Amino acid sequence: MDFYDLVARRSSIRSFDTQKTVPEPVLQRILNAGRMAPSAKNLQPWRFIVVRTASIKEKIYPAYPRDWIRNAPILLIVAGRRDQAWVRSKDGYNSLETDLTIAMDHLILAAAWEGVGSCWIAAFDPTILHEALQLEASEEIFAFTPLGYAAPGSEPMPKNRKALEEIVEFL
Ligand SMILES: Cc1cc2nc3c(=O)[nH]c(=O)nc-3n(C[C@H](O)[C@H](O)[C@H](O)COP(=O)(O)O)c2cc1C
Repeated sequence: MDFYDLVARRSSIRSFDTQKTVPEPVLQRILNAGRMAPSAKNLQPWRFIVVRTASIKEKIYPAYPRDWIRNAPILLIVAGRRDQAWVRSKDGYNSLETDLTIAMDHLILAAAWEGVGSCWIAAFDPTILHEALQLEASEEIFAFTPLGYAAPGSEPMPKNRKALEEIVEFL
């Protein structure tokens, strides 16, 4: 699979095979791809939290109550600290959200490369998730994803994207 096949084939997975765990070397390669992500001034203001413990997953569930989240073998949370991210002196822009977003994209693309399903989740309740993970007040979460193998027979949704002519302008 080349890079363009990878980006075309990555799809959000919302149904997981509960019998199949993600092997440790596969998980390590995915996490390492996140580690390699670029960040402003290379400050790497992130932390990747791997949740496999059923009791912690149960605490996370109310933050985004979907059975497919509960059934996923892994929940991967990308968290970070605003005070560790780069700040643009001209206007005070803080790069935390951008840095974490890039790390997340590396993680889900690496997962797709490994044949592991993911789904970027942002519509969670931040207070519940924060409390479930017992994070310090200064740590923020912008996204998490389940990781696991797609349930047998589940088909990814067909890609629905705007045409290039709609979104590209050549000047
Ligand atoms: C910033 C962001 C937030 C998202 N939040 C959610 C979410 O809370 N729940 C969900 O089921 N999917 C969520 N998604 C997945 C999108 O719905 C999905 O990427 C989009 O429909 C395109 O489908 P595809 O990922 O299969 O290509 C999110 C994606 C992004 C990039």
